[in-house]
Amino acid sequence: MRLNRLSDALGQEIWTKRDDLTGFGVSGNKVRKLDYLLADALDQGADCVLTTGGLQSNHCRATSIAARQLGLEPGVLLRGELPEIPDANLLLDRLVGATVRTCTAQQYRDHRDDLLAAWADELRAAGRRPYVIPEGGSDALGSLAYVDAAKELEDQAVRPFARVVVAVGSGGTLTGLALGCTNAFVHGVAVCDDAPYFEARVQEIAAGTAQWGIAPLRSPGDGWEVTEGYQGPAYAVATDAIWDTIAWVARLEGLLLDPVYTGKAMHALLCEVRAGRWTGPILFWHTGGAFGLFGRGHELPA
Ligand SMILES: Cc1ncc(COP(=O)(O)O)c(C=O)c1O
Repeated sequence: MRLNRLSDALGQEIWTKRDDLTGFGVSGNKVRKLDYLLADALDQGADCVLTTGGLQSNHCRATSIAARQLGLEPGVLLRGELPEIPDANLLLDRLVGATVRTCTAQQYRDHRDDLLAAWADELRAAGRRPYVIPEGGSDALGSLAYVDAAKELEDQAVRPFARVVVAVGSGGTLTGLALGCTNAFVHGVAVCDDAPYFEARVQEIAAGTAQWGIAPLRSPGDGWEVTEGYQGPAYAVATDAIWDTIAWVARLEGLLLDPVYTGKAMHALLCEVRAGRWTGPILFWHTGGAFGLFGRGHELPA
């Protein structure tokens, strides 16, 4: 859909693709990835699903609920310490009865895949059939969902776009769009880490898609890039300027963004357009994440 008032305010045509509306509990960009990943889980005869992310991971929440919808048992390995009272995404993990394990930030950074593999081994030893999904659902199969989403955009769009803008957290969405969007330049806005980290990650994920006959990924700068400078102080930490963007867009368009992903991506879009570096028509790929607003009311600008 076209964002009319935002387009007028910026003097460039801005559109959005509403992957935030792909569902309620199971919403956002995770739905597309889970569509492919959980189909694979069922094909393999899994009876439970394990995945990992931050304490307030949208991916873990969507996986937990989707697993229950398919009769699978969810388990999530979360980074951080559990609060006494769960809210937002964590509340929903709890509500659907996901088994929750936690680890420290350092364990998460260095060993999350090993911890998941060890958990899966425990389950197998107990006679279960676990299916393990990596952080963010960002492996080759998960990214394939966004190769296909890029085709969907091409089919739906009433006009070609010069640019596609999307938030990058674990890299799978950008990988798929970079592979699939052949007519628009894709800007993946880093919400943590930096451009070299995500460029390497995207190239690594893309390498696994050759098995489906997907054309090789072009080099960064050729059709896609990772945009940095809008991460804020840390993952999930938003500056006042990012909150101002979230509130401004909500009041201008009634479009809800979150402080972890889409708020940062939209902030990048506004800054780059205002600086004259990005021209339209621009497609803002809304990847969801609204539950990330809950529990953060104290940060909202007046
Ligand atoms: C709302 C939202 N937007 C964007 C992203 C980034 O997608 P990806 O992990 O595929 O980079 C995520 C997850 O990380 C997310 O939850």
